[in-house]
Amino acid sequence: MSSPTSTVTVDNKSVELPVKEGTIGPSVIDISKLYGQTGMFTYDPGFTSTAATESKITYIDGDAGILLYRGYPIDQLAEHGDFLETCYLLLYGELPTAAQKADFDYRVTRHTMVHDQMHRFFTGFRRDAHPMAIMVACVGALSAFYHDSTDISDPHQRMIASMRMIAKMPTLAAMAYKYSIGQPFVYPQNDLDYTSNFLRMCFAVPAEEYKVNPVLSRALDRIFILHADHEQNASTSTVRLAGSSGANPFACIAAGIACLWGPAHGGANEAALKMLEEIGTPDRIPEYIAKAKDKNDPFRLMGFGHRVYKNYDPRARIMQKTTHEVLNELGIKDDPLLDVAIELEQIALKDDYFVEKKLYPNIDFYSGITLKAMGFPTSMFTVLFALARTVGWIAQWSEMIEDPSQRIGRPRQLYTGETERDYVTVAQRG
Ligand code: SDX
Repeated sequence: MSSPTSTVTVDNKSVELPVKEGTIGPSVIDISKLYGQTGMFTYDPGFTSTAATESKITYIDGDAGILLYRGYPIDQLAEHGDFLETCYLLLYGELPTAAQKADFDYRVTRHTMVHDQMHRFFTGFRRDAHPMAIMVACVGALSAFYHDSTDISDPHQRMIASMRMIAKMPTLAAMAYKYSIGQPFVYPQNDLDYTSNFLRMCFAVPAEEYKVNPVLSRALDRIFILHADHEQNASTSTVRLAGSSGANPFACIAAGIACLWGPAHGGANEAALKMLEEIGTPDRIPEYIAKAKDKNDPFRLMGFGHRVYKNYDPRARIMQKTTHEVLNELGIKDDPLLDVAIELEQIALKDDYFVEKKLYPNIDFYSGITLKAMGFPTSMFTVLFALARTVGWIAQWSEMIEDPSQRIGRPRQLYTGETERDYVTVAQRG
């Protein structure tokens, strides 16, 4: 049977373009030869209809609200597994056996310390520096410490760089937090699991023993699973594009962190909590719904809407359940922010504007309430998102590097500037 094609007609000239089919989801029209055959580019500035790559890692069905990591539904992974199991799955494509999991945990745990010179990096920052600025700087600087990991053609070095990234993000994130509150850094402890280790590095002080709350550790570990990967989102596409030039993995992840920081992307969890605090009480919700609907008002409901999900973000449902779990464990009976969030969601989901535009809560809508209750300042919310997303970035980067057809990413443009004109001396410029 001949492979499917699509016909494009340009200036009365028809061009046959191959159609590629995936295992699930939309097929693609391969336009890689379009320019050569027609002298024209396609135009899709926000990549709303463009597949930039082929991938086997994560699948999203935005209309059905489905999210699969290597084929496994996100709710099953969040319910039954832990974050390092999800890291193994995303990196290697299969769930680990008990022996593989034990070995993976052991290897990650023994890469959690950072070079002690990194401590001197921090003294250069102001204490009130945004932790995301510190993360961009320190993760990029890891390439200054690990020259052996910058040989990306060596699969063994790529694997070690992946371990180092996953293992050191919690340590650097905790250091950024400690530095911002003027407390001493806490070293990782190898007898703790990944997320308990992170909580201890954030909240332990030398003056007393710190006991990790297992309910909070389990909740945060689940939150990391929810944030681990998400197909070709803006920060993952940034990592892939940076990696396509052959840049070392630490520099590529630093670029991903920088992109994630934006309020339209990973910065939305911090912005959503600030929005809930600004609304303050349920009676002020209608005023903010009106602002969100007003075309002349740049205000948007942070934590609402998504480029792909035109249904409820499956992660938001699990996030909401986790929020209640954490608040109950902490004995927080009535959190005014949660009251506002629940009321705001109910009003928005019944409002024609949000219904017509298919705007639902996304993963960032409830995460801030949970992280604040756990004791994290809003400035750390996107850092936690970056911590969890590092495995997704690394898995997508590795997939790109290992793709034999991989080339440097170099988009073209629709030029609408000046046509050629001659130089005019300053004397002639009037
Ligand atoms: C993440 O891509 C990913 O997968 C990202 C992510 C991941 O895991 O990596 O899921 C994480 O980034 C989640 C999204 C977090 N961002 C926010 O919560 C910020 C608020 N949301 C919006 O800014 C917006 O919904 C985006 C950025 C998320 C999506 O933007 P799109 O797809 O470009 O949609 P759009 O801006 O074209 O909006 C379509 C319409 C517009 O109205 P019209 O011009 O068609 O009349 O919906 C409106 C928008 O004005 N709209 C909103 C809105 N989001 C979209 N109106 C009010 N409030 C909102 N939140």
